[in-house]
Amino acid sequence: MEKLTIPKIEIDYENCDKEGLCIQVCPWVYERDSRDDFPIVAYPLACDFCGHCVAVCPTGAITHHELDMENFPQVEKELAIEADALQQLLRQRRSIRNYNQKRVVKRSVIEKMLEAARYSPTGSNAQSLEHIVVLGRENVAELVRLIIEDFRKELKLLEDIDVEKPMDPSEHKELKYWLSAYERLINGYDTGKDMMFYDAPGVIITHAPSALSTTPTPVPVEDATLASFHMMLMAETLGLGTCYIGNFYEKANESDAVRQFLEVPQENDILMSFSFGYPAIRFRRLVDRNPSKVQWIGAD
Ligand SMILES: Cc1cc2nc3c(=O)[nH]c(=O)nc-3n(C[C@H](O)[C@H](O)[C@H](O)COP(=O)(O)O)c2cc1C
Repeated sequence: MEKLTIPKIEIDYENCDKEGLCIQVCPWVYERDSRDDFPIVAYPLACDFCGHCVAVCPTGAITHHELDMENFPQVEKELAIEADALQQLLRQRRSIRNYNQKRVVKRSVIEKMLEAARYSPTGSNAQSLEHIVVLGRENVAELVRLIIEDFRKELKLLEDIDVEKPMDPSEHKELKYWLSAYERLINGYDTGKDMMFYDAPGVIITHAPSALSTTPTPVPVEDATLASFHMMLMAETLGLGTCYIGNFYEKANESDAVRQFLEVPQENDILMSFSFGYPAIRFRRLVDRNPSKVQWIGAD
């Protein structure tokens, strides 16, 4: 919906219990009426259509006319995920670089991932993300072919930099790192090895109207990263493997050929991408990570 719409929000005062949970969860829009103490919609323009007021009201007294009131189901307590189960899910997700070539990912499975993306948080509740599902080895391979052409051009530019000239050691290390990464991506492609998407049967690319458009999100990259991660976690529960592909999305936005192939609207930026498919190899153990570096302030 259009962000500048002033929403029509109605409170059914016959049903309102005056507890004011709507005011507590949304002090930007709701206030208490000083005359009779009922909640009122004082600042509708401040509404960002997040639905909190409808979801929190214990008596169903709020109707938000800009939202689909049929799509606010009750929370099902029996579906709650236990903390250890969630921790294991988070810890067992691996970046998958080997895909089962024989197992096709059904559209209904992909739709479950896309549905999970709908419910990730977005800055100012912008909800402006769009996704492209590239399916099938032929299409994914074409995407690799197109982006590798950009890597070839970029490698030429990097090769022209004189690595012997005096430069900051960290800059030198970074240059060598990227030179090697680009060479391996290109050589892989030239020898029939997909080092970009690892022969995945599918890729999801997320894009959104850029900051220059009329309906921008204030934090596009964060929105896209969170939505992708929602999809990746859902994928995990569906037995799929995924891998964020920064090598792709960091270049893709500047590539006319890629943008054309994907039919990305001119005003949109490509923000995120990940590959997916059924893994060919299963990890049997969880992995270790660095201990958290945490500073506690005010805790006992
Ligand atoms: C933003 C982001 C971009 C990434 N880009 C790539 C990539 O281009 N290619 C790749 O093979 N892995 C990529 N990865 C995967 C990381 O290498 C991986 O997450 C990390 O090594 C930890 O492994 P794990 O995901 O299995 O826990 C990316 C990860 C993140 C978070």
